[in-house]
Amino acid sequence: MALAATFSRFGYASCNPNDRAGRFSYHTPPTKSAAAAGNGVPAIRRSNSWRCRSTATASSQAMAAGRRQEKKGVVDEEEEWRSYLAPERLEVVRQLEPWMEEHVLPLLKSVEESWQPSDMLPDPASDGFREACLELRAGAAGVPDDILVCLVANMVTEEALPTYPSGLNHLKVVRDSTGADATAWARWIRGWSAEENRHGDVLNRYIYLSGRFDMREVERTVQRLIRDGMTVHAPASPFHIFVYVAFQERATAIAHGNTARLVGARGDAALSRVCGTVAADEKRHEAAYTRIMGKIFEADPDAAVRAMAYMIRQWGVGELAAGLSGEGRRARDYLCALPDKIQRMEEKAHDRAVKAGKKATPIPISWIFGRTINVLVP
Ligand SMILES: [Fe+2]
Ligand SMILES: [Fe+2]
Repeated sequence: MALAATFSRFGYASCNPNDRAGRFSYHTPPTKSAAAAGNGVPAIRRSNSWRCRSTATASSQAMAAGRRQEKKGVVDEEEEWRSYLAPERLEVVRQLEPWMEEHVLPLLKSVEESWQPSDMLPDPASDGFREACLELRAGAAGVPDDILVCLVANMVTEEALPTYPSGLNHLKVVRDSTGADATAWARWIRGWSAEENRHGDVLNRYIYLSGRFDMREVERTVQRLIRDGMTVHAPASPFHIFVYVAFQERATAIAHGNTARLVGARGDAALSRVCGTVAADEKRHEAAYTRIMGKIFEADPDAAVRAMAYMIRQWGVGELAAGLSGEGRRARDYLCALPDKIQRMEEKAHDRAVKAGKKATPIPISWIFGRTINVLVP
């Protein structure tokens, strides 16, 4: 199961359940010039440590060239980021306000029509609470450790919710500046957060009632995750953040949907229902952010496709032509070639693992009282 993916809500996470610091980080790709120097590794780092005088001279020239390359790479990247924050570009996003009102806000559900965690869990005010809890625990008893660990990973990701709206509120043109702004963007951020809030609640309560977890360790992970926060590339670009959030909604829909399927097959119908219900919300959120990105593609295709190249994959990108700069066209071509490239990489990695006779490594996980799960460490 893709455990790592469940940790990566806002970027490439280095969160580990057993680590002291469960930090989210936002990956910065190699710059164009650094990449030219060797897959993002400056040429100097690849030079040999043993060398004769003439090699050393050549090498020091290479070092100087490498440094110049690196410096230029940094400048290129800063310029690229500044371009996303040009007032006219941000204005494009701001002007989507009436469109948001009409096409995205309706994807939120009202409180009246929303499910609540208590709909799917034993009611502590009822006489049958004890029996309902025993039934829940009996269902959870057959779920294997690796799925339990993925479930906690999904849950803590949801529980770090305070981090996510604060990430969106980092974006000047959409943020909820007072905490109760009436703009469509601000109402979307609050409405989306309120829907998300139920995900962590329902999963946390299920996990608590099931009796299969070391709750203190789980709770410590959540506290670390929120306390440590995440680093978002500054200056924040709405183009990149929306590409990212669209994908992370899809990732959570897949993760919760897979968990629903797996626990259902092992006889835990209650948990399957919980995870399936959360997955359905995530699909609706994915539709909203995909719609937003689709509109941004129409409004500023150059920024959108370049942001997409940065954040991976495509939305009908192959057909884009009008309005693209040279860099935008290169980004489009790069994106269109990605699926094949990723497939080839996966096949190679698989072949390598088979050749090396690689075995899974047992890793102890604090959330399940230090029992081990087998992980294929790359
Ligand atoms: Fe969620
Ligand atoms: Fe979501």
